[in-house]
Amino acid sequence: MAPRSVALLTVPLWLCFFGCLCDQHVYPSVGTFFVHKLDMMEYQQRFLNKSGQLLPITFHANLLGFPDLPRWLRYSQRSPWHSAYLYGSPTTPDKHVIEVTVYNRKTFEILREKIIINILSATEAPPPYEAEFLVTNVDVEEMLPPETRHDFQVPLQELWDTQRLFVINVTSALDKGGRVPLPLPGLKEGVFVKVASVVPFPECLYETQKPQIRQQCKEGRRPLLCPDLVANDFNIDWCNVTLVDESGSSPMPPSYEPLAWDEEFNPPSDELSETDYFTDYLLTMLLPVLIALLLFLLLSYIMCCRREGVQKRDAATSEIQLVHQQSIFSNTEELRHMAANRDVPRPLSTLPMFNVRTGQRTSPMELSGDSAHVPLILSQQ
Ligand SMILES: *[C@@H]1O[C@H](CO)[C@@H](O)[C@H](O)[C@H]1NC(C)=O
Ligand SMILES: *[C@@H]1O[C@H](CO)[C@@H](O)[C@H](O)[C@H]1NC(C)=O
Ligand SMILES: *[C@@H]1O[C@H](CO)[C@@H](O)[C@H](O)[C@H]1NC(C)=O
Repeated sequence: MAPRSVALLTVPLWLCFFGCLCDQHVYPSVGTFFVHKLDMMEYQQRFLNKSGQLLPITFHANLLGFPDLPRWLRYSQRSPWHSAYLYGSPTTPDKHVIEVTVYNRKTFEILREKIIINILSATEAPPPYEAEFLVTNVDVEEMLPPETRHDFQVPLQELWDTQRLFVINVTSALDKGGRVPLPLPGLKEGVFVKVASVVPFPECLYETQKPQIRQQCKEGRRPLLCPDLVANDFNIDWCNVTLVDESGSSPMPPSYEPLAWDEEFNPPSDELSETDYFTDYLLTMLLPVLIALLLFLLLSYIMCCRREGVQKRDAATSEIQLVHQQSIFSNTEELRHMAANRDVPRPLSTLPMFNVRTGQRTSPMELSGDSAHVPLILSQQ
């Protein structure tokens, strides 16, 4: 069987004449990992800079007529001095036209080109055994070139003892909740690499799923498994190995017994004495009943007293009201009486037409004519 990576056929750029922006056709197939490199050096030449100095170049890639890329396709460029990558695992046969805009960050020149991705349907059923590794000492861009993936894949193929094992996905640890490392040399963000194989997992991978190993990981220890893989350049975090078998779940090694079932089942003997139950009974039943009874007595006592008090108070208030009414009545009577035999002249100020300053009284009859002729403000002499 041909290696799956051959499914990626890039029309070589040298087929186009120099500087031309022709469309490129690529043919990945469903279930295989696809990488398209936007080569920094090639675009340097396209911008016709003969001085040999590197130009900063950035890219923007989107589905033609849409702002984004298709779901399965991801884009990555470390810095304007690095090549960029489009990568992902296509899931359905389809044809996507990707528009790539290339920016020269020095002169602000722009180039546009199209990449036509023709996704072919899978030629065979996807390999059922999938394992995902966290490689801690590489960044995602370093894992994308085919040579690096090959270097990662070959020792695994030896471990698995099969040629039919392929890298099917590469994801930056940052996309899976990892943290951005400190900007120190040698600290990488890490990358998840998923491989798929047609044969079951080797024994040492099953080890990673054992509770003892999981426990070690929880305690912060880093177990070293699969010694055959330790020698290569990739630092695999054995605490972050995920296995998925044909049933779609994390498998247990065939030899591994989670519990010793052959042991006879011994139910705990009934050794609890009566007194134990009695104290329990007292605590759970009698105590609340006692408290309830106490509360009941207290409440009924309060209710009775309060009712008596209320009645007494009611009687007292009605008596007070009666006295009050009586006194108001007699007072009014008295006032009426006094008003009847009042024999005092009315205060002058209450009489009409009384001059406050002169004390002169004018009968309203003496005023000739209508009141409109009376000056509103009297002279000050
Ligand atoms: C080439 O690049 C250098 C430095 O980036 C710049 O000074 C020079 O003008 C560029 N030449 C052209 C032809 O763009
Ligand atoms: C590849 O990884 C990405 C990111 O974790 C995920 O969204 C995608 O479904 C994966 N594809 C396959 C085929 O596993
Ligand atoms: C590794 O796995 C553990 C759980 O098994 C998880 O909490 C941790 O975030 C993972 N590490 C990274 C870098 O994703």
